[in-house]
Amino acid sequence: MDTKQTEVVLAQVNDAYIIANMSRQIIEQGLQWSWTPERVGRCVLSTDTNVITAKNEGDLIGFGVMYYGASKAHLNLLGVEAHWRSHGIGHRMLEWLEMCARTAGLECCQLELRESNHKARKFYINHGYTEIERVRGYYQHRENAIRMSKSLQEKHFL
Ligand SMILES: CC(C)(COP(=O)(O)OP(=O)(O)OC[C@H]1O[C@@H](n2cnc3c(N)ncnc32)[C@H](O)[C@@H]1OP(=O)(O)O)[C@@H](O)C(=O)NCCC(=O)NCCS
Repeated sequence: MDTKQTEVVLAQVNDAYIIANMSRQIIEQGLQWSWTPERVGRCVLSTDTNVITAKNEGDLIGFGVMYYGASKAHLNLLGVEAHWRSHGIGHRMLEWLEMCARTAGLECCQLELRESNHKARKFYINHGYTEIERVRGYYQHRENAIRMSKSLQEKHFL
């Protein structure tokens, strides 16, 4: 497994089907499918959303979707194929998406994730996110979400 070959690039419309199917398997498991190929495809074409992919020798092994609002960014999806995890690919994609939000001067980035997703909660805490709220029944009334937030403003000390 050579992650040096992995590139993080903007998604193309024809990546939407694979991204949506990966999302269904690794993020939306047990829920009604909401990130359908059509929805992902609309995000790829949207001017206020970035959809990125991690590709290794042409294979799509990870993806991320971030929406950029007037003052906040929102991470909608971040996923890496199971056997490619813990090699820094999630980190690279998150940095890529956050860099755009910083460049746009946005204040913070927020996300929601399943309360039971302890591994991802730890991943985001290690990337500077803090848990700000529990949102009851956020996932189709089946599971609570934890809302997390990270300030993107540079801190200047005199
Ligand atoms: C959350 C997720 C996107 C992280 O992706 P990833 O590629 O595994 O992320 P990284 O490899 O950058 O970091 C994962 C861990 O591996 C460690 N790591 C990174 N590179 C490493 C290396 N070369 N050797 C050993 N460990 C490494 C990191 O320190 C990190 O530890 P932490 O989670 O305790 O912070 C991935 O686990 C995933 O797809 N999960 C399922 C979907 C999901 O839950 N998404 C989030 C909600 S939308």
